[in-house]
Amino acid sequence: MAKMWAGVTSGETAKIADDFNSSISFDSKMYKQDIAGSMAHAAMLGSKGIIEGWEADYLIDGLHTILEDLETGKLEVDPSCEDIHMFVEQVLTERIGDVGKKLHTARSRNDQVALDLRLYLREQIDEITEKLKKLTLIVCEKAESYKDAIMPGYTHLQRAQPVTFGHHLMAYAMMFLRDVDRLSDCRRRMNLSPIGSCALAGTTYDTDRKLEAERLGFDGICMNSMDGVSDRDFALELSGVLSILMMHLSRFSEEVVLWSSWEFKFVELSDAFTTGSSIMPQKKNPDMAELVRGKTGRVYGDMIGLFTVLKGLPLAYNKDMQEDKEGIFDSCETVKNCLDVFSGMIETMTARTDNMMKAAQNGFINATDLADYMVKKGEAFRNAYKISGQIVAECMEKGLVLETYPLEEYKKHSNLFEEDVYEAVDLKACAEKRISEGGTSVQSVEKQIAYVKEQLK
Ligand code: ARG
Repeated sequence: MAKMWAGVTSGETAKIADDFNSSISFDSKMYKQDIAGSMAHAAMLGSKGIIEGWEADYLIDGLHTILEDLETGKLEVDPSCEDIHMFVEQVLTERIGDVGKKLHTARSRNDQVALDLRLYLREQIDEITEKLKKLTLIVCEKAESYKDAIMPGYTHLQRAQPVTFGHHLMAYAMMFLRDVDRLSDCRRRMNLSPIGSCALAGTTYDTDRKLEAERLGFDGICMNSMDGVSDRDFALELSGVLSILMMHLSRFSEEVVLWSSWEFKFVELSDAFTTGSSIMPQKKNPDMAELVRGKTGRVYGDMIGLFTVLKGLPLAYNKDMQEDKEGIFDSCETVKNCLDVFSGMIETMTARTDNMMKAAQNGFINATDLADYMVKKGEAFRNAYKISGQIVAECMEKGLVLETYPLEEYKKHSNLFEEDVYEAVDLKACAEKRISEGGTSVQSVEKQIAYVKEQLK
């Protein structure tokens, strides 16, 4: 078929070059945005008298029918078209005749594709944000149910100090809250309209870029036409934001994998979100968590891919930029899928608080509290730390824990020890005493939950 852009070239490209050049297999995802952009453009052309009012109406009506027919499946995207922009314009001209050829006045595919991508990703941000908020609320609910469940908190994956499971979960809620904030920040910078930048230099027509931007829900316009067509920062930023979000999901996944192992057995995943083994009947595998962890790699890869495409491109548009879409589209789909599955997995996950408590009892995670006990009775921390360490070593030797170490033995190390030492090393009390802002006590966890819920409103 003759190319719409056949000018100085014959437009008779080799089939292999056509296929290589084509982006319709992936940019057809943006048909809605492309049509919305064209409607706004036609309206602007009409209102500025660049085309007749009736012509604008004709174009808009034609675009409406295309949109409708694509939605209902009456019209299918023609894979032999170069891209979605060409496809829509071609169908429009077939349907309404020569007026269709006026749509591309004062516009280029360069600003058109920049517009479509911003519109598309803006919608993706909204969808992702909604899913992320839902997950964050689920995490808050879980934290509420387990706000007083004692477990060992770890550093270096060594048992460190008692925390509550609710507190541990709320750490992830805080990460997700930052992700929500980053998404909205990214959206704000993305929400400027490039349309009207035209090929690169602007146009000689008396257009109204602001009017067009307003119709499309933008907060303003890109102020330099060369930047307008060649900027993809918004996609890079989103890639970065999604990578950080995936990193959070991946860390959470890693913990879910550990916790659901027989070595820990801190949590039980529901059958709905685990798989069996084809050979080992006893297996219950945390595939969902593993896949989320694994898919993090793709999202990072998409980000690096996009950075690499843009690096070294001279201004303004270069065809390299067609490579900006598949990666970021893939990232958006991946993140949405991961959020849905992860939400279901966490919502149906139950904690084995008995095992958490058992693990907490055997790691001397109250040794800091023992030192603090002496400090509160007048000992210097460094000395108290040393004494506490000696007692732990003795306990280990004798197969005891701080809760069962006899008082007369305690007294041999310091005369500060009295009967109340057992209250000081009680694990529940140890967690409960951590009332500092952001600490692990029930009261503090409740505060965190209220804070996150408030922020999500
Ligand atoms: N399919 C192209 C892309 O995705 C559209 C822009 C084409 N512009 C051009 N001058 N060839 O980037």
